[in-house]
Amino acid sequence: MKKIRVVIDCDPGVDDALALALALASPELDLLAVTAVRGNVPAGRAFRNARRVVAWLGAQLSHPRDLPPVHPGGSRPLGRDRIDWKASAAIHGPDGLGRLFPGVLRPPRLERNPGQGAEEALISLARKWGRRLTVVALGPLTNLARVHQRDPSALPGVGRIVVMGGAARMPGNVTPAAEFNIHCDPEAARVVFQSGARITLVGLDVTRRAFLPSRALERGGAFRKGLRDLVSVYADFCKRRRGMDGVFLHDPLALAAAIRPGFLRCERLPVTVECGRGPARGMTVVDLRAEAPKGRIEVALDLDERSFLRFFLERMRSYRGWS
Ligand code: BDR
Ligand code: CA
Repeated sequence: MKKIRVVIDCDPGVDDALALALALASPELDLLAVTAVRGNVPAGRAFRNARRVVAWLGAQLSHPRDLPPVHPGGSRPLGRDRIDWKASAAIHGPDGLGRLFPGVLRPPRLERNPGQGAEEALISLARKWGRRLTVVALGPLTNLARVHQRDPSALPGVGRIVVMGGAARMPGNVTPAAEFNIHCDPEAARVVFQSGARITLVGLDVTRRAFLPSRALERGGAFRKGLRDLVSVYADFCKRRRGMDGVFLHDPLALAAAIRPGFLRCERLPVTVECGRGPARGMTVVDLRAEAPKGRIEVALDLDERSFLRFFLERMRSYRGWS
C-alpha cells in the first residue's frame, strides 16, 4: 500500500488527542512527525501533552508501529492575541487532556526529545518530501506562518495542507465571527492562506456535524475507559452549553479528510481572514457568491457524517482495550 506521508501540527487538546488516536490507528498513514503549537493550552503544555498522548496510544495499539518524534513550537502568535485559558480549561480540562492524566492511568515514560523545533522540522520535512507530504494543521496556524516567513517555498511545495479552522456559512465558536484556531492567530492564518499552498479548509460547517455520542464510549476495556476520561470535561461542557450528550470531532474529521477526502464535499472558493481589531477579527470570509471567481482554497461545505463516524469508531477498535 502506498502510504500518505503526514505531519500533524496540533495543540492537544481533547479532539487533537482523538485525531492522534485516529492517525496512529490508520495503516494508510506514515506519520513522520508531530509538531506542537500554542492554542488550547500554552506551547510547553501542548508539547508535553502531544508526547504523552503519542506514547500512551503507541502502547495501546494491537499492531505496534514506529512512533513519530514530537517537536516543540509556536508560543508567540503573529498577532499577539491573548488566549482565555480559563475558557479553554472549561472545555479541555485544566491540563488540556480532560481527566486522562493523572487519572487511573499514569503518564507513560517519555523517550528523549528529538531536540529540533517545530519550524525546523516542518521546513526540513517539506524540503525532503515536497509534493509527497501532507500537513494536517489542527491548531492555530502560528508554526506554519513562521515556516512561510522563513522559507516561502516550503508550504507551496507540499502536496496539501488540511486545516481545521474557520467557518464559511455559520457563526464562530469563540466570538460571533471567529472559530477558535483562527481566532488565536488571525495574522498567521492570513499568511498561510495567502502562501500559495494547496489548502483544504475543514471548518465548523462540517466539524459541527461530526459528533461522537457518549454512548459510543460506554463500557469496553481500559483504552475505551481512557477515552472516556479524555473527553469527560468536554462532554460535560457540551451537555451544559448545548444540551448534547457527546463531543465534537473537529480535529479527527480534518485528519480523516487527509486519508479519505470523499467524506467531504468541497468547493474552491476565495477565502480571506479578517485581521482588523473590530468584532469580526478572526473571521474567515468565504466568497460564496455565484459570480465569485474560483479560489485556491478548497472549502469543506458538506459531510457524510455517518460514514465518517463509522470510520472513526472502526479505527478505534484497533486499540487493545477498546472492547
Ligand atoms: C478547534 O478549536 C480547538 O479547541 C479544537 O481542538 C479544534 O482544533 C475547534 O474550533
Ligand atoms: Ca486543535
